[in-house]
Amino acid sequence: METILIVDDEKNYLLVLETLLTDVGYEVLTCDNANEALEVTTSHDLDLVITDMRMPGVDGMEFLAQLRGRQPEIPVIMMTAYATVEKAVEAMKRGAFDYITKPFKNEELILTIRKALEMHRLKRENRFLSQELQERFKFGNIVGKSKVMRQVYEIIEKVAQTRASVLITGESGTGKELIARAIHFSSPRSDKPFVSVNCSALPETLLESELFGHERGAFTGAVTRRKGRFELAHNGTLFLDEVGDMSPALQVKLLRVLQELRFERVGGTTTLQVDARLVAASNRDLKREVELGRFREDLYYRLKVVHISVPPLRERRDDIPILVHHFLRKVAKANGLPVKNLSHEALKHLYQYDWVGNVRELENVIERAVILCDGGEIRPQDLPEELFQKRLPGITGKESEEALSGPEMAGAGDLLPYLGLNARQVKAINFIRKNGYITNDYYIQINQISDRHARRDLSQLVEMEIVARVGGGRSTRYVLK
Ligand SMILES: Nc1ncnc2c1ncn2[C@@H]1O[C@H](COP(=O)(O)OP(=O)(O)O)[C@@H](O)[C@H]1O
Ligand SMILES: [Mg+2]
Repeated sequence: METILIVDDEKNYLLVLETLLTDVGYEVLTCDNANEALEVTTSHDLDLVITDMRMPGVDGMEFLAQLRGRQPEIPVIMMTAYATVEKAVEAMKRGAFDYITKPFKNEELILTIRKALEMHRLKRENRFLSQELQERFKFGNIVGKSKVMRQVYEIIEKVAQTRASVLITGESGTGKELIARAIHFSSPRSDKPFVSVNCSALPETLLESELFGHERGAFTGAVTRRKGRFELAHNGTLFLDEVGDMSPALQVKLLRVLQELRFERVGGTTTLQVDARLVAASNRDLKREVELGRFREDLYYRLKVVHISVPPLRERRDDIPILVHHFLRKVAKANGLPVKNLSHEALKHLYQYDWVGNVRELENVIERAVILCDGGEIRPQDLPEELFQKRLPGITGKESEEALSGPEMAGAGDLLPYLGLNARQVKAINFIRKNGYITNDYYIQINQISDRHARRDLSQLVEMEIVARVGGGRSTRYVLK
């Protein structure tokens, strides 16, 4: 049970709050003055302190300052009779987690308490140690903050600087092509072409001429000379999609080209030399294809100098909320519609579904729901039937409920709590909720961080389309979107 200390000079008020919070299930201690409260903080193991601002003798601000000096990790919520931005800034600057304006509704207080306790718990668990890593949620157009996706970002970043061949494997719809593009566009070749060939879409002979080009008259229908994709990708990147579907004969030819970096057009004699960086993808398990004798082992090793294996969506379900958030915005923009919200209940269904079609299927579901849903919020009835039938085996409603009970941020859209914001950003959003906006300076003050850090945090919120920048220069403000 969590222990909360309440400090207020009005004894009646203490009584009311004590009853309320005890009923909710907290252990409650009360003090009617700051000096006594300071003693209690040393003699008890507290999880949270709630203090009034205006008290005779040592006031709330002073109490806060002294408490922070002794026990900086206990979260403090300030109660003020009237709210001004300056007061709020001052309190947060001195380390308060949040503040609440009297009179407040019971639910408002309880919500603020839950937020503070959750943050405290996360801090205790050292979850913020690897913050730099946690903050990474996006690479180019790729969205995802799960551990595996962050590892994928790291590999992309490293490999982009080299010209090593990359093999990307994963089920259909997991984002392989997106990753291939990200590699190209973060590489020194980014201003050169990215050329893509789908090896499963064409019969063998057509694929060959597609890849290597052909001379006029090389075969029936070859009425003109045509450049192949290899040539077109010169100095850029060639993306061989579904390379596992390539015929054995073409595999041999491809291997030769990769080894010698030269080839002839179909029906031609001139030897061409190209410098194309190769990225290949397959939804098959190529290693297994090699074992079964369907894919050449030497080609396999040529292709997979670096191997990126993208797990199916059902194995990185913590990416679902952030992907939904991303697609809600993407679809709204593409159709000129306002951004819709998604109910908690609907999110739960998305979380439990087994997503055989992976991210592509999720994108389609969101697109359909946005277009079909009449109101501002997507609810379970706006989702397709299948979603209720094919649940991921082994996932209970309770489990997903637990996974989806992050730090509370009610009223901001049901997705916000799950987007992996850091503690400073959560603090800023609460600040905007109360004051309408935040500035870079206020951000620095309430979080006590450097200008550079503040800018990075705020830019990320803008990029995630959670806040919008208004105005420019010194008067730039950030408001909720
Ligand atoms: N991590 C992701 N973030 C954002 N969009 C994604 C992500 N993964 C896949 N998508 C989207 O899902 C669809 C399928 O992705 P794609 O790269 O074509 O998958 P694959 O090549 O593995 O079949 C595309 O519209 C893509 O933009
Ligand atoms: Mg693909």
